[in-house]
Amino acid sequence: MAHFTKATSLHDWLNQRLAIDTVRRVIAKEYWIPKDINFLWAMGMILVVTFGLLLVSGIFLLMYYQPNVATAFDSVNYTIMTEVEFGWLWRHIHGVAASVVFLIIYIHMFTGIYYGSYKKGREMIWISGMLLFVTFSAEAFSGYMLPWGQMSYWAGMVITNLFSGGSLHADGLVEWIRGDYVPGQAFLNRFFMLHVLLLPLAILGLIGLHFATLRIPHVNNQEGEEIDFEAEAAKYKAGDKRGSKVIAFANDFMSKDMMVVGIYLIFFFYLVFFHYDFAMDPVNFDYADGLKTPTHIYPEWYFLWSYEILRPFPTDPGLVAFAFAQVIFFALPFLDRSPNAKPAHKRGAFKFWFWAMLIDMIVLTGMGKLPPEGIFSTIGLVAAVTFIALWVILPFITKKEKEL
Ligand code: HEM
Repeated sequence: MAHFTKATSLHDWLNQRLAIDTVRRVIAKEYWIPKDINFLWAMGMILVVTFGLLLVSGIFLLMYYQPNVATAFDSVNYTIMTEVEFGWLWRHIHGVAASVVFLIIYIHMFTGIYYGSYKKGREMIWISGMLLFVTFSAEAFSGYMLPWGQMSYWAGMVITNLFSGGSLHADGLVEWIRGDYVPGQAFLNRFFMLHVLLLPLAILGLIGLHFATLRIPHVNNQEGEEIDFEAEAAKYKAGDKRGSKVIAFANDFMSKDMMVVGIYLIFFFYLVFFHYDFAMDPVNFDYADGLKTPTHIYPEWYFLWSYEILRPFPTDPGLVAFAFAQVIFFALPFLDRSPNAKPAHKRGAFKFWFWAMLIDMIVLTGMGKLPPEGIFSTIGLVAAVTFIALWVILPFITKKEKEL
């Protein structure tokens, strides 16, 4: 048993038992952040805050939501929206946060790609980030099932159908996932469990892992400069704060992060109060009806790009292309063969690759929302083939890159 002395304060009492000073030093006071970064590096903190808003608003919604095919729709659209005081506010916060979180995730991902923050020791940051992306996607999809509207039902039908594997006809697998021949009570129950328990727990664990992966390599910086963190931290601690290339996370850097978070929250609550409808599909205000297929079934905007990679091809190649799109971003640190962890504008052909990928994904998103007819289906097909081609050429163009 360790030696304990009579505590002089509550802080001292806790410190002797939980080493809170050491924990604070490791994760905050002596966690070093490069000075040469811009507001894009605040996206991670914005994601943490948005996840917090989703958790809190979700807990309030859970007090009135009923996971039952007969009452789910009314519990959301009638009870929460009209009968519960401020129920509408919690629903709007939850709906807007669920949509905006993907916008921020995409900005965060493309910032990482632009600055090469997945290379040279930062591979695990990228991989844990991608695990978060996949888990957030599952969380959003399972949440979309809960109001049991027309789009909940039919999106549930279409997405679970994908597991039949096209001409493999694995219908038994689809029924096993649904717990029935078509989406019904068993389906709603299990997606409810995933949405409120298993997936949020997984997200919390993955956020912990993502933070742990940042601790040793530290975050990157705008020039991709390799910083000697120990030497720079020593300068900072010796009082040469101006000369050091780093600052401490708490409270110095966090105060800057909080300013960006504050501006974001103004934008966020503007959407909550004045434009929440962008996050809610009108079709989902109709009660789920298994006998009435909507004329046009499409997912939420953040899944449109991968949906459009599935759609223009015949069933089997479409499923292969879709599976490819789901996993290929995981491989980015290994497909980029260049030795340079530098921003894209300093790198040769990668600069064009980056912008081509970004524009291609925006085009795929636009086409995914439109009916697959005429010119739209041709543009969708070209964009889907371009997406795959860009990944195929990535190792070749980056291998040729000169070392900077
Ligand atoms: C959705 C939950 C996520 C949270 C809460 C989160 C949080 C953070 C935080 C706080 C940072 C440090 C500050 C910053 O650079 O912004 C960070 C860095 C990073 N994240 Fe995430 N992240 C998430 C998702 C992702 C995803 C989906 C990816 C990409 C696959 C990703 C990749 C990265 C990378 C590469 C860095 C290092 C940036 C650098 O070194 O400059 N993260 N993340």
